[in-house]
Amino acid sequence: MQKIFSLEGKNAVVVGGAGGIGQAIAQGLAEAGAKVAIASRSVDSLQRAVLEIKEACGLEVKYYTVDAAVESSVEALVVESVKDFGKVDILVNAQGFNKKFNAEDFPMDSFKQMFDVNVIGVMMCCKHFGKHMIQNGYGKMVNLSSVRGRIATKGPGNAGYCGTKGALDMMTRQLASEFGKYNITVNAIGPTITETPMMTDILNSRGPNARKDLAESLPMKRMALPTDCVGPAIFLCSDASGFVTGNIIYPDGGLTAIG
Ligand SMILES: NC(=O)c1ccc[n+]([C@@H]2O[C@H](COP(=O)([O-])OP(=O)(O)OC[C@H]3O[C@@H](n4cnc5c(N)ncnc54)[C@H](OP(=O)(O)O)[C@@H]3O)[C@@H](O)[C@H]2O)c1
Repeated sequence: MQKIFSLEGKNAVVVGGAGGIGQAIAQGLAEAGAKVAIASRSVDSLQRAVLEIKEACGLEVKYYTVDAAVESSVEALVVESVKDFGKVDILVNAQGFNKKFNAEDFPMDSFKQMFDVNVIGVMMCCKHFGKHMIQNGYGKMVNLSSVRGRIATKGPGNAGYCGTKGALDMMTRQLASEFGKYNITVNAIGPTITETPMMTDILNSRGPNARKDLAESLPMKRMALPTDCVGPAIFLCSDASGFVTGNIIYPDGGLTAIG
């Protein structure tokens, strides 16, 4: 029974795999049996993540530098990873960031940069790995969305981020529609606020009780951890989700149930 969750024989690329959630997912996929590569811009972060994964579970992961907001860089990532692995079966898009400004003051260059990485960067990875997966007749794509693709925040600041994640959700569904006939599934994971480098400054700026208050506001009464995304990711990358496509799983402690 557990075999349907096995990733033995599969090769995975996790873009944003040196980030809080991406690294947890990369380690989880490796522990489930996949050969894994992580990719992002900073070599230092990639090398740190490779070492931490090795220390945590004894498994080697590869790394590649990529700027997912630059199409030629994404194309080079596909060429290199396919050359090294032979084929890539799994793509996880865990890149992304949030810059908060009140809507009436939102600098449009920041707004556009968020779309460049959170939406267009994901599209370019799905497009170019998609071409390769179509040739192979198999593929699993998982995009890191957010509860903010579905519900807005009461406070200000999230017009850009919510916009990108809403766009990402619809793009995920459309890609699922187009790639289904090639045996490629495309799904998303929508976490709530999770303690990662992306959120540290935002949480610190909210005062000493921010984490406790957040935990209290959720039905599960604790804050999300990066590892909360690992089970959903293994499910969506394995044969256990063979007929699941165009879906979004929310590891959100129940936020979207009450939101
Ligand atoms: N943490 C949360 O509360 C939370 C909640 C809901 C959804 N999410 C989503 O989950 C995903 C991961 O978030 P996280 O919290 O793990 O963030 P994180 O720790 O800041 O990691 C983000 C990763 O994305 C990479 N990245 C950023 N821009 C890139 C680019 N242009 N090309 C390639 N890689 C790029 C970063 O590496 P480099 O800077 O070195 O390139 C980093 O490895 C994001 O899509 C985020 O929106 C996070």
